[in-house]
Amino acid sequence: MQMSHIDDIPSTPGKFKMEKSPYFHRLRWHTSLAKLTFWPIVFLGVLFIVFFRSPSSSPLHSDPSRRSLRTYNWGGSAWEKRVRSSARVRSRNGISVLVTGAAGFVGTHVSAALKRRGDGVIGLDNFNDYYDPSLKRSRQALLERTGVFIVEGDINDSALLRKLFEVVPFTHVMHLAAQAGVRYAMENPSSYVHSNIAGLVNLLEVCKSANPQPAIVWASSSSVYGLNTKVPFSEKDRTDQPASLYAATKKAGEEIAHTYNHIYGLSLTGLRFFTVYGPWGRPDMAYFFFTKDILNGKSIPIFEAANHGTVARDFTYIDDIVKGCLAALDTAEKSTGSGGKKKRPAQLRVFNLGNTSPMPVSDLVSILERLLKVKANRNIMRLPRNGDVQFTHANISYAQRELGYKPTTDLQTGLKKFVRWYLSYYSNGKKAAE
Ligand SMILES: NC(=O)c1ccc[n+]([C@@H]2O[C@H](COP(=O)([O-])OP(=O)(O)OC[C@H]3O[C@@H](n4cnc5c(N)ncnc54)[C@H](O)[C@@H]3O)[C@@H](O)[C@H]2O)c1
Repeated sequence: MQMSHIDDIPSTPGKFKMEKSPYFHRLRWHTSLAKLTFWPIVFLGVLFIVFFRSPSSSPLHSDPSRRSLRTYNWGGSAWEKRVRSSARVRSRNGISVLVTGAAGFVGTHVSAALKRRGDGVIGLDNFNDYYDPSLKRSRQALLERTGVFIVEGDINDSALLRKLFEVVPFTHVMHLAAQAGVRYAMENPSSYVHSNIAGLVNLLEVCKSANPQPAIVWASSSSVYGLNTKVPFSEKDRTDQPASLYAATKKAGEEIAHTYNHIYGLSLTGLRFFTVYGPWGRPDMAYFFFTKDILNGKSIPIFEAANHGTVARDFTYIDDIVKGCLAALDTAEKSTGSGGKKKRPAQLRVFNLGNTSPMPVSDLVSILERLLKVKANRNIMRLPRNGDVQFTHANISYAQRELGYKPTTDLQTGLKKFVRWYLSYYSNGKKAAE
């Protein structure tokens, strides 16, 4: 599947408007009567909000991370009409898919690919500010032009999820919403628990009760291999030594998936992605911020392990990942439960989706230098112990056999497409986040 035309679409920035914080008028008290009536009125107001608030506004009480403490508006007949229209299947044997994390890097590409082949797609994303939300808004605008509606909301919002399943009997869920990033886990650990654990459980709870139950394909991560030293990493290798909280939450996700498959008959496929890169990518990832820093003449940190050991990654191009995701959806068997009860055993799978050709990070920098025609200011540093591992390398024979997965893009070719997108996107009036 070629993503070339998504790469080629000239980016029109969806301008991210920060929500204005509520404006509080300062009240001045001139009379003691006003002072006496103030608190009873506030109390009654709070009672009113608690008991009579519209079901379409759903505050996220349980959210521990500041960025998700928001109220999203959803519901109503116009909203339902948009949802139905976006989820309408337009091809024979098409599927209807709820894509969580649709404004994210992988989610945008997968949603566009599904829509293109005639499947029904609804996106869900909370547009958090882990990285520049205006990039997510631009991706949203891109998807909107292809007919994909992204509902703004959190996977922890069960009322919203139930409503979506009430409006559309999804055959599949492509679950990509997560708190990504290895190093950020030391700064904001609760955001990982919120999205990768609580959010996953909430989603599975709703899926288990849906009738019919959807089949679920979701993103785990190569990071579950943690301190594993046996290469290439195979699905049969141990994954009980995570090197970061991010990895631990993804590993927890795999165990949670096992439980929901075992008890409720949910069909579950976990995909362990290996360092995905490409156009519309994530600004927190090395290939992306290296590009920005090389262009800005800033020095870039290149890590090496003990004894000058090379740090390498199995960089995987986004189009290859998309092909793997679609193949996983297409080969997913139906869930076997109904009314919250399992009728018979259901499918449970985990696949590596990598490129099987790890590249030293210093080679990645050399390719970027050639493509950007700018010499990088390299700063060789010792790999810190903050979650990163020395190398990743996928054994993909299982995915090859079961999904027909066969990555075809080498790093040079993929980076060329990324750099072309980057230069066009940020020269179109958009400023790379400082
Ligand atoms: N990109 C990679 O190299 C890579 C590697 C391994 C695994 N993964 C996994 O693949 C998936 C997609 O990654 P990506 O690179 O597209 O990341 P991304 O951050 O670009 O996309 C994730 C999206 O999910 C949304 N989101 C986060 N928490 C949410 C919540 N609670 N409710 C609703 N939306 C929420 C975010 O706003 C974001 O748009 C993630 O699960 C990630 O952990 C990615």
